[in-house]
Amino acid sequence: MTRLLLAGTGLIGTRHQAHIEAHPDLVLAGIIDPDPARRAHPTVPGFASIDDVDVAADGIVLATPTGSHAPLTIAAARRGWHVLVEKPVADTLENADAMIAAADAAGVKVLVGHHRRHHPRVAKLQAVLASGRLGQPVAASLMWLMKKPDDYFAVDWRAGIDGAPIKQNLIHDVDTLRWLFGEVTDVVGLASNAVRGAARPESGGAVLRFDSGVTATIAYADTTPTPWGFEAGTGESPHIPHTAQDSLRIACTHGAIEFPSLRVWSGAAHWNEEPKPTQEDAPDGIPLVRQLEHFAEVIAGRATPVVDAASARRTLEVILRIEETAGVA
Ligand SMILES: NC(=O)c1ccc[n+]([C@@H]2O[C@H](COP(=O)([O-])OP(=O)(O)OC[C@H]3O[C@@H](n4cnc5c(N)ncnc54)[C@H](O)[C@@H]3O)[C@@H](O)[C@H]2O)c1
Repeated sequence: MTRLLLAGTGLIGTRHQAHIEAHPDLVLAGIIDPDPARRAHPTVPGFASIDDVDVAADGIVLATPTGSHAPLTIAAARRGWHVLVEKPVADTLENADAMIAAADAAGVKVLVGHHRRHHPRVAKLQAVLASGRLGQPVAASLMWLMKKPDDYFAVDWRAGIDGAPIKQNLIHDVDTLRWLFGEVTDVVGLASNAVRGAARPESGGAVLRFDSGVTATIAYADTTPTPWGFEAGTGESPHIPHTAQDSLRIACTHGAIEFPSLRVWSGAAHWNEEPKPTQEDAPDGIPLVRQLEHFAEVIAGRATPVVDAASARRTLEVILRIEETAGVA
């Protein structure tokens, strides 16, 4: 059994909590949340602060506001707990560096919650591209176009730039694209707040070039209720209805692939020939559960983090560049 603490029982923390409590190999050792109602539990001890924890644990899941990721990771490392910290790894690159240094000094591992890498359809997409059967990836087009309800922004830390779709949502897409295409070499970002007039970007675009030569264009918004976005397309979030529509198209030298349908287009040597569709399949699997299982393997020393803090720092660097070049940082 792997004993896990959970810090933060908000939007994502409650999902981690449910998955930990339902898992036969995981034990919820304690809940940390400054809000007494949120840490209340019939059997699991609750703590107002990480400093108050007096139960034994192997690791901690940090699902707290982004600005607290660095101080809580450093405190957890000093207690000898391995850390699964939600994305973004930190609010600044300097704080990410401090987390990496603290974890190294304490000999604990940090896994960052870019859980899409644990989605079976993402893993299949990566495997198809890595197999080379579609040739060399050339270009990608990605949409994340959702409407968040206005009360989502009523929480203090979400009202400003940390709650904008660049840092909240595109960060997942950037991590996925880095897994597919390599490191990002060039970034252009654009942003607008034309709908809500909020003090943060609401919609815009980004163009990324990767060291493999791939260029990806991204359109994002949290002001439009479309069927196009990762969670809607995959049905991954219990809060977002499943539309099964594609939101990512990848063009390669010998064909193309759409996601999440995993429809492959191939068989055309050039534009005078018709590409034909075929279908790839992937098993079911809940990425947050698979991520917790991976965390248990990391804690046991049987795996290294699929996304460690150094990798997540590189994703954060791209996100900060999108904000900077869009003039909103
Ligand atoms: N992986 C994902 O898909 C995903 C989805 C949503 C949010 N997130 C990330 O998870 C983090 C939390 O987001 P959220 O939307 O769940 O936030 P939230 O505001 O809904 O919940 C945060 C919780 O943390 C508690 N908290 C605040 N300070 C704390 C501290 N020092 N110690 C313990 N608990 C503390 C709050 O009382 C609250 O219960 C953010 O970094 C966000 O980017 C990830």
